[in-house]
Amino acid sequence: MKKVEAIFRPFKLERVIEALVALDVDGMTLSEVAGFGRTGGKTEIFRGSAYSVNLLPKVKLEIVASDRLARLIVEAIEESARSGKIGDGKIFVTEIIEAIRIRTGDWGEAAI
Ligand SMILES: Nc1ncnc2c1ncn2[C@@H]1O[C@H](COP(=O)(O)OP(=O)(O)OP(=O)(O)O)[C@@H](O)[C@H]1O
Ligand SMILES: [Mg+2]
Repeated sequence: MKKVEAIFRPFKLERVIEALVALDVDGMTLSEVAGFGRTGGKTEIFRGSAYSVNLLPKVKLEIVASDRLARLIVEAIEESARSGKIGDGKIFVTEIIEAIRIRTGDWGEAAI
């Protein structure tokens, strides 16, 4: 099992979700976050105005899936979140050691 954590531009959210629903993902968590990458967020524009601070609004999606599906999820997010300009975001993939569905007590891939 893997966790795919993707941080990208808020206005891309609808497209990204559509791409993920098409992949039949079983669940996801969305957070509104702020951050910067190596370019420092300095030259980015948000809603038409240049931001004077370095922390720019982004969304973060977290999805836990099987290794096979995680790969497809990464590719789908990469494609649907890209504008080609700086600040498009990042995707991090980590190994998930365990997952538990609280209601049923299922463990492992049966819990996702
Ligand atoms: N090394 C990192 N660790 C944690 N979060 C990061 C890291 N790099 C980027 N992020 C998150 O991803 C968001 C988007 O980063 P961004 O796309 O600007 O990265 P970048 O390395 O500057 O690439 P680019 O040159 O395309 O701007 C940031 O606002 C931040 O929330
Ligand atoms: Mg950047």
